[in-house]
Amino acid sequence: MMDAYTLYEEAREVAARLARDAGQIARYYAGRVTVREKGYNELVTQADEEVQRFLIEQIHRHFPEHAILAEENLSDMQDGREGASFRWIIDPIDGTTNFTHGVPPYGISLALQHEGRTVVGVVYDVPHDELFTAVRGGGLYVNGVRARVSQTETLREALITTGFPYREVVHLEEYLEALGRVIRATRGVRRPGAASVDLAWVACGRFDGFFETGLSPWDVAAGILLVEEGGGRVTDFHGRPDPIFARQMLATNGRIHEALCELVAPLHHVYA
Ligand code: IPD
Ligand code: CA
Ligand code: CA
Repeated sequence: MMDAYTLYEEAREVAARLARDAGQIARYYAGRVTVREKGYNELVTQADEEVQRFLIEQIHRHFPEHAILAEENLSDMQDGREGASFRWIIDPIDGTTNFTHGVPPYGISLALQHEGRTVVGVVYDVPHDELFTAVRGGGLYVNGVRARVSQTETLREALITTGFPYREVVHLEEYLEALGRVIRATRGVRRPGAASVDLAWVACGRFDGFFETGLSPWDVAAGILLVEEGGGRVTDFHGRPDPIFARQMLATNGRIHEALCELVAPLHHVYA
């Protein structure tokens, strides 16, 4: 019988290979997709669906017992393994708006949970050909090289990343006030456009912190583990850990966590 860590390592290797292969599918479709809106400003393309189909088929080939939670609603791919102790959480293309406009980055995000705990996280930034992987307890790797969060101690020296609201913009004023506080307190703010990559870039020390509301589990499942394994901290705006289903994300190098939390805390009732 294989021990748990060996199984997680094997799952990481499979996920890393699948993410790179899925990246090839996305690259093939780049610049030649038909875009549909599944909701206001919520885009989906054949590439999202093809990549998801590929990932589900391959995961079931390697791990037939594992359940899957994935973003796109593919009626021909119902799972039926809901009670399983292992579950994959998949975003086939994170950053579809970037993808459809030819703007980097966009990512493929795969997480494996065991008994509800994320144990493997893989994010592949396709345009930059960068693969971020982690197994719980085993550290963060970027293209196979060990990496860590930044050592920035103060907001004054910090570069922060965020996601602007774009679907339900009912809390826009409050968001803009928080953004204003963060702009005033820090070295600057960026909006790259793919939450999984925002988290990966906090994990490896490019950004010192990230905040956003309205995120779904597939946007953040893998990225949360990357940040934690890079030595950082991830909470909701109340400071509670493991915000995978919280629809609020605050991820930092740990050192600036409380200071950034104070600036975004007035958004603690915003989940959209
Ligand atoms: C989106 C991206 C974006 C974030 C959105 C997500 P999608 O994912 O991660 O950065 O601001 O909230 O929904 O829809 O491109 O997979
Ligand atoms: Ca996403
Ligand atoms: Ca997506």
